[in-house]
Amino acid sequence: MPSGLILGIESSCDETAAAVVERGAKTLSSVVASQIATHLRYGGVVPELASREHLRAIVPVVRAALAEAHVTLTDLDAIAVTSGPGLAGALLVGITYAKALAFAQGLPLIAVNHLEGHIHAVLLQERQALALQNQRAALPLDEQALALVVSGGHTHLFLAEPADGMWHYSVVGRTLDDAAGEAYDKVAKLLGLGYPGGPWIDALARFGDPHAVPFAFAQIKTKAHLEGKAPRTKAAKTAPIAALDPHFLFSFSGIKTAVLRYVELHGLRDEATARVPRMLAAGRPPQTKEAALALCPQPTLDLIASFQHAVIGDLMKKTFAAAESLDAQRILVTGGVAANRELRERFVAEASRRGLQIAFPTLALSTDNAAMIAAAAWPRFTAGEFAATDLSAEPALALGN
Ligand code: KG4
Ligand code: ZN
Repeated sequence: MPSGLILGIESSCDETAAAVVERGAKTLSSVVASQIATHLRYGGVVPELASREHLRAIVPVVRAALAEAHVTLTDLDAIAVTSGPGLAGALLVGITYAKALAFAQGLPLIAVNHLEGHIHAVLLQERQALALQNQRAALPLDEQALALVVSGGHTHLFLAEPADGMWHYSVVGRTLDDAAGEAYDKVAKLLGLGYPGGPWIDALARFGDPHAVPFAFAQIKTKAHLEGKAPRTKAAKTAPIAALDPHFLFSFSGIKTAVLRYVELHGLRDEATARVPRMLAAGRPPQTKEAALALCPQPTLDLIASFQHAVIGDLMKKTFAAAESLDAQRILVTGGVAANRELRERFVAEASRRGLQIAFPTLALSTDNAAMIAAAAWPRFTAGEFAATDLSAEPALALGN
């Protein structure tokens, strides 16, 4: 039986997930129970429903992860669980179950920050890919990297640096308001597309003209923001924004409003409302031009492509500017939005133009999963950094300084 087995549990948002990972480097199983069907009709995550679904799924999902890995609870060395950030009620389901399992089995419990988990999804993926090629010795893994975590809840740039077997993170940039994935989800809802919006917009954008609508992002001025001349958000008040270079700050609430204005100005509202039952009947994003046109007329496809092109352009501009300013040679892109096809193509092309290394997780490891939580727990396990018995959910948990 392999040693260094960690069971990871993740329940911070709308996926109940469990995974068994060996020494932070080899996934023995990764099970994800998605709640998309539950939240689809509401166009977003309903927190109460999410907690209820986690309660239903947690026991079978953990059992399935153990069974797929061909291990039992007694084979494990530790249990890792997401302690934040996320929805309080949702996090508590995972934490309570992880605590009970750890207590009953006499195993150490490790608390993992969800954002750190996303970064470790890339490291886990690279370890596995290199192990397959028998190149373990040539691992570029434990090197400084600039990490863009871009998901439904977060858009953050971190400088990740290894030291003494652990990783240290400093915040280089972040969004002042909405996360990029949130903009995808809100624009999708506005256009009568499914939840989560990312996969729908990703699929439809392929068939539109990305230059049809010239969306623009203004340069953010931190000072104006701090002086109250720009909208103050909860996120902006809690983070040390004054210390950050405004060139690496994001804002995605403006483009959402710009899309809304465009929809109203061009009378597309009724068309979006009429799309909802057809979208629900289709159930999943269209994959051919014919199917795309059956759901959206060409001008709407152009609008969708232009929105995506602008969002990705902004993510690229700031990420590569930060890499240049910090002299980072390696970029990691992770989180749900990192599953996006156009994002991957454009980031890879730009990185190669600049001679930088770039890495993404597999598509399955981009969105929420528990393998990334078990992988992120490994350095803590080796350092003996365990959670206290009174571990609780930290919905606004930050990463780095
Ligand atoms: O990482 P994740 O599963 O959960 C959070 O931690 O938020 O990310 C979910 C987000 C959603 O906003 C979803 O719309 C977005 O990732 N997403 C995508 C794609 N797949 C998921 N965005 C753009 N393109 C995609 N293919
Ligand atoms: Zn996530």
